[in-house]
Amino acid sequence: MDDLREKYLNAIAGAGDEASLEELRVAAVGKKGEVALQMRELGKMSPEERQVMGPKLNALKDEINAALAAKKSALEDAALDERLKAEWLDVTLPPRPSQQGTIHPVSQVTEEVTAILADMGFSVAEGPQIETDWYNFDALNIPGHHPARTEMDTFYMHRLEGDNRPPHVLRTHTSPVQIRSMQKQGAPIRVIAPGRVYRADYDQTHTPMFHQVEGLAIDKDISMANLKWVLEEFFSAFFGTKVKTRFRASHFPFTEPSAEVDIQCSWEGGTVKVGEGDGWLEVLGSGMVHPKVLEAGGIDPDEWQGFAFGMGIDRMAMLKYGIPDLRAFFDSDLRWLRHYGFAALDVPTLHGGLNR
Ligand code: DAH
Repeated sequence: MDDLREKYLNAIAGAGDEASLEELRVAAVGKKGEVALQMRELGKMSPEERQVMGPKLNALKDEINAALAAKKSALEDAALDERLKAEWLDVTLPPRPSQQGTIHPVSQVTEEVTAILADMGFSVAEGPQIETDWYNFDALNIPGHHPARTEMDTFYMHRLEGDNRPPHVLRTHTSPVQIRSMQKQGAPIRVIAPGRVYRADYDQTHTPMFHQVEGLAIDKDISMANLKWVLEEFFSAFFGTKVKTRFRASHFPFTEPSAEVDIQCSWEGGTVKVGEGDGWLEVLGSGMVHPKVLEAGGIDPDEWQGFAFGMGIDRMAMLKYGIPDLRAFFDSDLRWLRHYGFAALDVPTLHGGLNR
C-alpha cells in the first residue's frame, strides 16, 4: 500500500495538465483502478485482517482524491496567473493623443450673438440661401431699377430657356428673412436670422460668401429708442465691456428713418480695440421698418411698427478676436483653424460667459 501511495502521490505532483490528472484519477481511484482492485481483495481476507486493511484502503483513497483536488486547483491557479501575465493592461498609461477639431470663429460668434439676443426675447428664424429676387429685393422696397441691385454685386442664378420659375439669386443679405418671418408669424414678432450671404467681392475685408445676422422687432409701440437700447446692451454683452454707440442718419430702402451704427474704438498701435478711445467703427445698418416692407410681410403698417438691423458676423469675429484677414476664414488652413478655433464643448452661454 505504501508503494501505491508513493507511486500515485508522486505522479500527481508531477502532472503537467488536467488531462494527465484525469488519467491518474482513473488509474488510481476509478472503478477499475488499482485501489478498487485492492478493495476487492478484502473479501478474501480474514475478518481481523479486513478490519485493519479496510480503513487503510479507504484512507489511501481519500488521500489520493485530496491530492488530485489540490493539484487540480494548483494547475488552475497557474493557468490563471499565466493568463493575467499575458493579458496585463497598464491602465495608468496616458491615452494616445487624438486629433481634435475646433469650432470656427464664425460659428462661435453666431452662438454668442444668438445667446445674447435670445435672452432679450428674440427667436432664431431661417430662410433659403437661394432666394427669389422678390424676397431679396422687391419685398424690401428695392425696385428693379434701384442701384442697390447692382451695388450689391448680386449673383444671379442662370436660367435655361423655357424656365418660367421666378428669377433666383444667392441672397445678398439676411433681410429677406424679415419678410418670410412676418409672413409666417405675423405681428407681434421678435426674430433674429443669422446666416450666409453672397456678393461678388473679394479683398482683405470682403469674401464672396460671408455671414450676417438680421434682427426684427415688430409690435404696437416699438421705436428707435428700443433699437438703441437693444444694440447698446448687445454690444456691451458681446465685447464684455461698456461700448458707446453712435447712430448716423443714413438711407436703406427697407427702413425709414435709417441709421448706420458705429461703435467706440481706439486705433492705437495699429490694432482696433473696441470699447475704448475716441475713434468710431461702422458695424451695422438699421432703422424703423418701412411701411411697404411691413405690407410685403402681410402686416398692417397702420397698426404695427418696429425696428430692424443687419450686422456682419465675420466682421464682429475679426474685431472681438483680433483676426486680421477675412479671406483666411474660408481657406480651411488647419493651422489657422487650430489657432483661431474654439474648444468644441465650450459652448458660449450667458451664464458661462461670452469671452474666451
Ligand atoms: N441688409 C443691409 C445690408 O446687407 C443691412 C441692413 C440695413 C439690414 C438696415 C437691416 C436694416 O435690417 O434695417 O447691407
